[in-house]
Amino acid sequence: MPKNKIDTIAVLTPGGDAPGMNTAIRAVVRTAISYGLKVFGIHKGWHGMITGQIKELNLMSVGGIINRGGTMLHTHRCPEFKEKKMRQIAYKNLSERGIDGLIVIGGDGSLAAANVVAQETEFLVTHIPASIDNDISCTDYTIGFDTAVNTALEAIDKIRDTAASHERVFIVEVMGRRHGILALEVGLVAGAEVIVIPEVKYNVKAIAKRILDGRERGKTSFIIVVAEGAIRAHEFAKLLDPKIKDMDVRISVLGHMQRGGSPTAISRELACKTGACAVECLVQGKSRLMMGAVSEDIIEVPFAKVLKHKKKADLRQLRLAEMLAI
Ligand code: F6P
Repeated sequence: MPKNKIDTIAVLTPGGDAPGMNTAIRAVVRTAISYGLKVFGIHKGWHGMITGQIKELNLMSVGGIINRGGTMLHTHRCPEFKEKKMRQIAYKNLSERGIDGLIVIGGDGSLAAANVVAQETEFLVTHIPASIDNDISCTDYTIGFDTAVNTALEAIDKIRDTAASHERVFIVEVMGRRHGILALEVGLVAGAEVIVIPEVKYNVKAIAKRILDGRERGKTSFIIVVAEGAIRAHEFAKLLDPKIKDMDVRISVLGHMQRGGSPTAISRELACKTGACAVECLVQGKSRLMMGAVSEDIIEVPFAKVLKHKKKADLRQLRLAEMLAI
């Protein structure tokens, strides 16, 4: 067997947690140990790297977590990592432990920070995309997205029961930060009559007409999925309510429940494969690579390429959803 290019790695989950992160940590730790590497877990993301919350992990440390939501390493929003002097402290903490490779599991903010680390240091760095937002380019999916879609779907299916009973219009707000990718997928599979996303300017008058026309045809209840990045549900309700006067409008903000829960098979499979691949890249001396999932393959994409491109919502999906929910 050829000699590994590195001896010791560390793994962390900065930024918002996503279901499947634990599955990815398990894959990283067990792959690393099977290659004879020493592996550390950094608690609380970049904050723990600065404050030295770094502990060695073994095979048993990641037992019983494959199905658990959240992240066993915990996380912490860490604006201080933007300061170079804080990053220098973090780098020293890694070097003191003989760490020469780093695996960052997280969303677009984590990827940008991982790129900075790779540019400023000799550490080999790989990134595993994990976010319910699915807003990272060069990968079809991020870990946690499928789980969040299913969680929101289950909630909307329940909301539909009460919406139908009362013949109401329900505005359901879903997460996704500045993007509508999560809302679009949720809206399509939930059969929402209207989907409002930041990528497309909404027209309240046209939406009201769509609802009133639907009622004329015999529809009695309506689900409107609103992406938090487009408009907040309560604000949208204020705009829509006067235009559909004789219909009752209610709102439901799904919020952080979308980030929790046991990861689905799809989120877990992605986590197992990208986790192993991220370690193998480091073992081969590769760096500055994100583990993308394209079609059925895991591909290694340079950070520079991922950061250059913005992921776009597939607007064909919006047209399909509108046609099917008429
Ligand atoms: O990026 C994941 C995400 O859940 C977004 O969808 C949401 O806007 C944001 O994180 C919420 O962040 P926080 O948990 O810090 O409120």
